[in-house]
Amino acid sequence: MLDRVVKSLQTGFPHYTGVYIYWLEGGDTLSLRAFCGRPTDHTKIPVGQGICGRAARERRTVVVEDVNADPAYLACSLETRSEIVVPIMRGNAVLGEIDIDSDEPAAFDPADRSFLEKVAGLIAATA
Ligand code: SME
Repeated sequence: MLDRVVKSLQTGFPHYTGVYIYWLEGGDTLSLRAFCGRPTDHTKIPVGQGICGRAARERRTVVVEDVNADPAYLACSLETRSEIVVPIMRGNAVLGEIDIDSDEPAAFDPADRSFLEKVAGLIAATA
């Protein structure tokens, strides 16, 4: 199911250069479960590290309009300009997250955020 989600998102939205779904393991590590688009070496991310780790630690969506301006950013490509990370939540518990990179600066607007938060809710409901 997660493979279909990342493929649908990445092929359906030209500004979604890479779509990644991480799952929280052991309460402290985000493990890459599915991706479509640009590959990444970041297959395991400790909670608290990077943009992904921030979103998981703070239990909130994080939108970074210019990744090069964020010292916490973990680069998976020199082409990436902006990123959004949406936690997949069940109640107050983080199950995982949707991470999307774009080669366009400030690529993610409130409509992207609202849509992806709904997608995250659907993933949580079927997990
Ligand atoms: N940029 C993310 C790492 C994951 S790669 O983008 C897929 C971060 O800073 O947490």
